[in-house]
Amino acid sequence: MRIDLLTLFPDFFAGPLTQSILRRAQEQGAVSFRVINLRDFTTDRHRTADDRPFGGGPGMVLKLEPLVAAIRAVRAEDAAVWVVLLSPAGGLLTQKKVRELAARSHLLLVCGHYEGVDDRLAHYVDEELSIGDYVLTGGEPAAVVVADAVVRLLPAVLGCEGSAAEESFQTGLLDHPHYTRPRVFEGHAVPEILLSGDHAAVARWRRQEALRRTLRRRPDLLARAALTPADRDFLARLREISEQQDG
Ligand code: ADE
Repeated sequence: MRIDLLTLFPDFFAGPLTQSILRRAQEQGAVSFRVINLRDFTTDRHRTADDRPFGGGPGMVLKLEPLVAAIRAVRAEDAAVWVVLLSPAGGLLTQKKVRELAARSHLLLVCGHYEGVDDRLAHYVDEELSIGDYVLTGGEPAAVVVADAVVRLLPAVLGCEGSAAEESFQTGLLDHPHYTRPRVFEGHAVPEILLSGDHAAVARWRRQEALRRTLRRRPDLLARAALTPADRDFLARLREISEQQDG
């Protein structure tokens, strides 16, 4: 897969793209990144990429011409590129959306900045995505979030150590808790069952802990999760217990 990042701040990506799994994924050939400097697509002497908003108000707005020229240059190289504008006004990024993006061969992540981008850019991108209901100073951190979530789903990136299929949101539930040595740390012990060597019992316990956590922290997810009859019984028992405690 190829991921292009269009930005006014190319240096922003030097760290995130050269660490950990994103670096390994590039070394393995699973993904190649290219950072494109928006300023390279300006045409005036001052390399102007932003301007004052029509109608007045604070801040600057990214101009259309360099953004569109850059997007057109990438589309001319590869008609299959999927162009995503990162913006707090976009649709919310979910694991389902991440899976859709990971199935594409080429993404162009367009980072907005300052007060925003000229709204007519919507005519030139394929979709607009937000990573959450809060406002960042620019789309760059959001583009790193998208790239990271997508790359870890590419075949071979997590390899056999990969647990991508099981963890939070893939199953529609929050992930179960994880532990490693020591067995007891400052009085906090690892659940005994994980030391039992009984794989079936461990699997059952993990499922139940995922259900327990999801009920407590994100009950909204349960309505959409794929639940077995055993899951539903367990949740009913948990709800009973919590009603008894409240009552
Ligand atoms: N740019 C600024 N805030 C953002 C957000 N929440 N998601 C994506 N891009 C953004």
